[in-house]
Amino acid sequence: MTTREEYVANVLDNEHRRPAIKQSAQAFMPSNVALIKYWGKRDAELNLPLVSSISYTLHENYGSNTRVTLSSEDRMELDGMALSPKDPAFQSAMRFLDLFRAKGEFFDITTLNTIPTAAGLASSASGFAALTECMVLMKGWTLSPRSKSMLARLGSGSAARSFFSGIVMMDKGTQKDGMDCYAGTCKPQARMRTRMAVLLVDRERKAMSSREAMRISMETSSLADEWPAVHKKHLAQALAALKDADFHALGYVVEENALFLHELLRKSKPSIVYDKPETVALRNNIVKWREKDGLPVYFTQDAGPNLKMIFPMTLKKDIENLLKEQNLDYFIA
Ligand code: PMV
Repeated sequence: MTTREEYVANVLDNEHRRPAIKQSAQAFMPSNVALIKYWGKRDAELNLPLVSSISYTLHENYGSNTRVTLSSEDRMELDGMALSPKDPAFQSAMRFLDLFRAKGEFFDITTLNTIPTAAGLASSASGFAALTECMVLMKGWTLSPRSKSMLARLGSGSAARSFFSGIVMMDKGTQKDGMDCYAGTCKPQARMRTRMAVLLVDRERKAMSSREAMRISMETSSLADEWPAVHKKHLAQALAALKDADFHALGYVVEENALFLHELLRKSKPSIVYDKPETVALRNNIVKWREKDGLPVYFTQDAGPNLKMIFPMTLKKDIENLLKEQNLDYFIA
């Protein structure tokens, strides 16, 4: 079995414990939202996904602004608040940086998210991507976006996809050592011009992290065994839709994939339900806008109550007017 340390050494060609050559580094990385979700792991140690995923990288600087500085002890500030070393966000960030620390190195991390943190809005994707970028700069590594995606995945699976713009595909790979699992631009997207509205139902931190929900649901849900085959079909449908530039076919399978994932969660023991009453009402509204009013809009939902809605880029103004009219808390990215 390959350990995390051996894997990092393989990606970095044995340079992973090199002392930092810079005192400090700063990076911004955008977040991304999965259209066809990553859910389940084929290897927990290396955080290798059970299924491939397709995502949309957010525009307009929605993501994480992070600075890492060498320090006398580990410290972390998130959105202006100093975190206790017991905070799960502090622990997972430092556990990630442990993989790259030279002897006697401590880090001071300051992160400002331009999206609400931990509300199922993929702040961990941009957060771990930005931490990776800061390490690369501090240590003076020359790495391709693919190699950066392979490192960031150890922090958060979805972070691997943030190193590419547009529509991105993360290949689950099949090798045990994880060396064929990385993200890249999804090839058949040239003619598809999509935008996304993030619809905020709740800005609070979610009750259960995606990591915990993933573990519980894949161990206990009555739909867990079906997920890989259903997902494979969804992935093929999405790739065909992108190739044909068929927005409706893409939207249809994006909704199917999210609905199946939330049903899988609901059938876990204990049952995991991220919906708030407003989530259900909003999902119904999106379907109504499409089926009654003829708008090409489709939703997706991650491990939280908020929804994301995709639509063709040409409709940005109309969608903006509609969302304003409805008095919704939203941003378009
Ligand atoms: O990257 P993680 O470990 O937070 O898991 C991401 C899970 C989803 O956001 C629900 C799906 C995805 O592909 O981003």
